[in-house]
Amino acid sequence: MTQKFIAGNWKMNGSTAANDLLLSGLLAGIGQPACQVAVCVPSIYVAQCHGLIAGTSISLGVQDVSQHESGAYTGEISAAMLKDCGVRFAIVGHSERRQYHGETDTVVATKAQRALGCGITPIVCVGETLAEREAGQTEAVVKRQLAAVIHANGHCISELVVAYEPVWAIGTGRSATAEQAQQVHAVLRTQLRAASSKADGIQILYGGSMNAANAKDLLAQQDIDGGLIGGAALKVQDFLTIIAAAQ
Ligand code: 13P
Repeated sequence: MTQKFIAGNWKMNGSTAANDLLLSGLLAGIGQPACQVAVCVPSIYVAQCHGLIAGTSISLGVQDVSQHESGAYTGEISAAMLKDCGVRFAIVGHSERRQYHGETDTVVATKAQRALGCGITPIVCVGETLAEREAGQTEAVVKRQLAAVIHANGHCISELVVAYEPVWAIGTGRSATAEQAQQVHAVLRTQLRAASSKADGIQILYGGSMNAANAKDLLAQQDIDGGLIGGAALKVQDFLTIIAAAQ
């Protein structure tokens, strides 16, 4: 069994004052967590958050990375820059990026490649919409999304983290049931096994309305190795409760 991993995705929330409060609250209550913990912050706050958590049990992540290496890409932030500033994890292919920024499977795969190339662990998100689930396409969709990343990254895939985030469960308060999530995680695990002999060590996180009340049940599933937490990661006590559920 791999070590569990709880990562917060702050999305476009925070301020210098709010980040300070949230991180000091987490550090005051976290003790010695039995799982890995990270916060994926807005890139503008990387320096601030790095200063607050460097050397603690909380690792630093971001929510996106450029698909390009360097050069004339106005507004973009490269994997090398993130690495230079102390970032260890980068979410790639979040459904909000796919939906609002037109990110394709190929772009997501390239982003994962850029991150890996600079020593940043990509947290690759996959997940179906409600319409796709209702049409019985869940398995086909997540397999297609993951296949692109496997294809572009070859044997390096043992270095990444996968997150299953059903779009219909994100920010809706309607989490997948533990059984629904486990079913998809098992599909992803099988696909990873076919591609890598180290697949059992790849952490597959669940994300989508995971909270203090349902975390234990979800995290008890065989192939759920952690959580990618949105709303509940912005509340000190809720995030700490989820971390404690991942022992
Ligand atoms: P919520 O936990 O707010 O549903 O968000 C999940 C998510 O999108 C994490 O990346």
